[in-house]
Amino acid sequence: MNLNNILLIGSGGREHAIAWKLAQSPLLNQLFIAPGNAGTSQVGTNVPLSGTDFDSVRKFVLDNEISMVIVGPEEPLVRGIHDFFLSNEDLKNIPVIGPQQAGAQLEGSKDFAKQFMIRHGIPTGAYRTFTKDTLADGFAFLRTLIAPFVLKADGLAAGKGVVICKTLQEAENELTEMLENHKFGKASERVVIEEFLDGIELSAFAITNGKEYLVLPEAKDYKRVGEGDTGPNTGGMGSVSPVPFAGRDFMQKVEERIIKPTVAGLQKDGIPFVGFLFFGLMNVKGEPFVIEYNVRLGDPETEAILPRIKTDILEIFIATANDTLSEIKPDIDPRTAACIMIVSGGYPGDYSKGKIVSGLDKVSGSLVFHAGTTAANNEVVSSGGRVIAVTSLADDIKSAVDQSLKSVALIHFEDLYCRRDIGRDLI
Ligand code: AMP
Ligand code: GLY
Repeated sequence: MNLNNILLIGSGGREHAIAWKLAQSPLLNQLFIAPGNAGTSQVGTNVPLSGTDFDSVRKFVLDNEISMVIVGPEEPLVRGIHDFFLSNEDLKNIPVIGPQQAGAQLEGSKDFAKQFMIRHGIPTGAYRTFTKDTLADGFAFLRTLIAPFVLKADGLAAGKGVVICKTLQEAENELTEMLENHKFGKASERVVIEEFLDGIELSAFAITNGKEYLVLPEAKDYKRVGEGDTGPNTGGMGSVSPVPFAGRDFMQKVEERIIKPTVAGLQKDGIPFVGFLFFGLMNVKGEPFVIEYNVRLGDPETEAILPRIKTDILEIFIATANDTLSEIKPDIDPRTAACIMIVSGGYPGDYSKGKIVSGLDKVSGSLVFHAGTTAANNEVVSSGGRVIAVTSLADDIKSAVDQSLKSVALIHFEDLYCRRDIGRDLI
């Protein structure tokens, strides 16, 4: 008994980092990753399953005596994988790390998240939500705001649903595109228009069972594809943890004004929540505001924060499931982790896949996490926009970034690209 057979759902760099960390746990028996990537297959067993194919997940879990499921990405959560487990007689006692649908709405609906924040007094920008029928009101509301204008498709839009418009004209066009011309399909049937917050962004994380929570290290994510924060938004081109402009005082404010009231608010609203809370924050002159919630870990934030968590992550997951989270005293590495993402040329636009990735075995002194790879004929080949994440730990940001750059230089595939300025703004 008490054999920990874990099923981890996902296939990105975040999941390779989680798998890598889980594999170090003396509490682990077997680790399966669905579907995983070439990196996760080095620390566990990949299974060709989609996290949104609940019936196949059920069969696999029962056949392989899985004792816990950890969900990496948001989609299975928003689609109700945790609810599916609870509604199945033979699955309902298997803990799932990741919230049920009701809690996943914090990420799945921007309007829900904004209403939640307002209801519970959590600092966030002023906003209103509009539909096709209230387009004219939307135009009127835009006129009450000062440029730039922030428009957010209510639903999941693969990270592309937020548009920042410089002029009123642009904002009106964009609002029309979203509401009338279905720019993001169903996701933009409702649109949140939000006050622009001028500050520096960071990501804060906690794991919670809906009552207790554990604050995890924060990170800064580099979202734009180009150096100097230029060009289109991506899933994230690199990350740094800890964040120098989020010192003790600031993080204390984050905990008191945001993390605590979020967990208390969920409880007050009767929304169960077992899993990660990811707070997309803006530091506005030293005061934290929430710009978005996610209900999972960030990618590539995970690749920077997990290497700093010395505590057994499986112990943390088990404590979350057993309601003993407050007994965990996490041991955090004070050093800085810097992660650089190597992507396919052209990403986040069109790019090619299937390129042979070489040099991974030459890397020493850094951690290599696979983000978009598959194994084919004993080779690692690229299978996504973000391909490899390289993380290094050092005493300061510059040394950590320099080490990651040194390692990145050893890795090769045709037409690769990375930002060489990760962390430079913080030095
Ligand atoms: P999201 O997809 O919610 O992460 O938003 C994409 C990006 O839009 C964020 O990373 C921010 O840079 C920016 N953003 C979102 N909301 C605001 C806001 N209220 N004020 C300023 N920038 C924002
Ligand atoms: N790196 C941002 C995210 O995971 O949403």
